[in-house]
Amino acid sequence: MQFKRLSDLAASGHLKGKRVFIRSDLNVPQDDAGHITDDTRIRASVPAIRLALEAGAAVMVASHLGRPTEGEVKPEDSLAPIAKRLGELLGRDVPLKAGWVDGVAVAPGELVLLENCRCNKGEKKNDDALAQRIAKLCDIYVNDAFGTAHRAEATTHGIAKHAAIACAGPLMAAELDALGAALLAPKRPLVAIVAGSKVSTKLSILQALADKVDHMIVGGGIANTFMAAVGLPIGKSLAELEMLDEARAVMAKMKAKNGSVPIPVDVVVGKEFSASAAATTKDAKDVAPDDMIFDIGPKSAQALEAIIAAAGTIVWNGPVGVFEFDQFGGGTRAVATAIAASQAFSIAGGGDTIAAINKYGVAPQISYISTAGGAFLEFLEGKTLPAVDILTQRFAA
Ligand code: 3PG
Repeated sequence: MQFKRLSDLAASGHLKGKRVFIRSDLNVPQDDAGHITDDTRIRASVPAIRLALEAGAAVMVASHLGRPTEGEVKPEDSLAPIAKRLGELLGRDVPLKAGWVDGVAVAPGELVLLENCRCNKGEKKNDDALAQRIAKLCDIYVNDAFGTAHRAEATTHGIAKHAAIACAGPLMAAELDALGAALLAPKRPLVAIVAGSKVSTKLSILQALADKVDHMIVGGGIANTFMAAVGLPIGKSLAELEMLDEARAVMAKMKAKNGSVPIPVDVVVGKEFSASAAATTKDAKDVAPDDMIFDIGPKSAQALEAIIAAAGTIVWNGPVGVFEFDQFGGGTRAVATAIAASQAFSIAGGGDTIAAINKYGVAPQISYISTAGGAFLEFLEGKTLPAVDILTQRFAA
């Protein structure tokens, strides 16, 4: 995948005195009082901004926050809390500008944050007239918003068609480099861990990955469905019995290429979904009609550890058990620590996965942790991300 990079433009002196428009993804979670509860995306956006400022550019940063109604900025839509946090991280004042589409004053070496771009009429529909107006604001457009790369919107896609230069910021480039290394030219064996409650919501990912990976580890409700598909009892566990044929098709595809889909041989069950539920480990074939499977057992975890230890590349999306309850966290802990200990290139993404990584303290040992949710999943599915596609087209043009 080839695209222009902000770092190259900065290194060759192309940013000095230029108006640079950076599309970041500053869509961070907030509590009811509007306090930011996780600033990861803001911190991850800082390097692009610093790079442009230090290279002498006049810097405008745009982002969406939530999914507001276009044409108005309600108090809860405002990027004001983000301007404050960004200012703290950069150690400078970050003025927030509303009504910016037709022009905003910013001098070289200065930075302004533009109010929620999704409040502009036409943003979400990628209105071309809006994209052209915004493109006029800058000499160089930088897309650093990998988290929004699956959306074709005026500030993620349309603007990139019309700006004189369109490039990827360092976060976007790092995400694409990591995902490219994991999926486009992986060191083998390539192991995917795909877990979650439903096969149906991740079916296209399972199908796409079955073409690429050597081992497909399934977890959570997805694993329960796969267990049922091979005739194991699953009691009252979360599963989709209407998806058994799809699960069998994924297993058949993997088998046909000598790949594996390890099915749990032992599990940890409870009688109710609660933090105080008693945990019992049993053989997979002994699950009782009133049992619910909440984790894989130690023998299954050991089998996964062996696969992970031998991997060349690991892609991880989803915890393999209800790790929020410690008595059902053994499987996810084993997977997390095995990935951390492995020599493989590892990439992880998704809110639950990152929560598990943080719980077990293995973040420093994961090669790359994506800041994206939906965009990460769509990349795994093999879909073309419109905001990336236009950057590659502009590289070729
Ligand atoms: C995300 O949080 O996944 C991105 O910021 C995209 O947000 P969206 O789903 O509202 O487009």
